[in-house]
Amino acid sequence: MSRRPVVVGIDGSPAADVAIRWARREASSLGTRLRLIHALTPGEDRSRSAGIVEDAVALAHDGEPDVTVDAEAEPGRPSTLLVKASADAEIVVIGSRGLGVMVGALLGSTGLDLAANARCPMVVVRPDLAGTGDRVVIGYDGSSASESALSFGLDHAHRHDLPVRVVAAQPVGTELHRITDAELQDAVHRRGGHDAELIQISGHPAEHLLQLSTDACLTVLGARGRGGFSGMLIGSVCQTVLQHAHCPVAIIPAAAIGG
Ligand SMILES: Nc1ncnc2c1ncn2[C@@H]1O[C@H](COP(=O)(O)OP(=O)(O)OP(=O)(O)O)[C@@H](O)[C@H]1O
Ligand SMILES: [Mg+2]
Repeated sequence: MSRRPVVVGIDGSPAADVAIRWARREASSLGTRLRLIHALTPGEDRSRSAGIVEDAVALAHDGEPDVTVDAEAEPGRPSTLLVKASADAEIVVIGSRGLGVMVGALLGSTGLDLAANARCPMVVVRPDLAGTGDRVVIGYDGSSASESALSFGLDHAHRHDLPVRVVAAQPVGTELHRITDAELQDAVHRRGGHDAELIQISGHPAEHLLQLSTDACLTVLGARGRGGFSGMLIGSVCQTVLQHAHCPVAIIPAAAIGG
């Protein structure tokens, strides 16, 4: 069966350029095509948008000449168009709005909307990350979203020949949802991750994941975990890591696993 495309949201920003570079490697590794989508904001000049699309297509081909690239500019909100496109995509990739001036609020509404509603995994990259890390870090809490994060992260690492760390953090002062060594090992080995480093650690999950993101090239999480309340679309660990990680972040939304 042929794979669905890797979708990238483009807006001509440096962050979107980094997203295109990340996505073209992934499309090449997956053996699939790239689909670039530019959401035309109300009143946006057609010739400006044509320029954005043209530059993006050129960048997408650069270094990966064999990847097929489609591009389109359509009126609408970026998150609406990208959520729609996610129904027929392997991954949706966006750049964060981290332009270096805003510390803290790195992720805009498009990223949060996608993490909540996309029908496939979504990846956020930032233009200000040196990207020197070389391992994939996966957060595991035993939830079905984190099971999908494990599968996604191990597959990504396997295709790019990268080392993997799987982290299960146990918040201090509670035994709720404790993952045993055997459970963690079983979840990872079942997916062929025999070489993965397994880290059981106590403390705040988001703090550990952020710390581990400093020498990672990708951090992978579910949008939801085992806590929270029903109806909530993005958990607190997911939100914190999305905002502050030192590397690109992949999120598995509930809608991507039929939740
Ligand atoms: N204790 C943990 N150790 C490792 N990874 C975790 C841990 N908790 C959550 N994660 C990761 O973060 C993802 C999102 O979970 P998160 O905790 O943010 O949502 P939640 O449990 O639904 O809500 P909340 O914990 O905010 O009440 C999980 O799918 C998992 O990948
Ligand atoms: Mg949780």
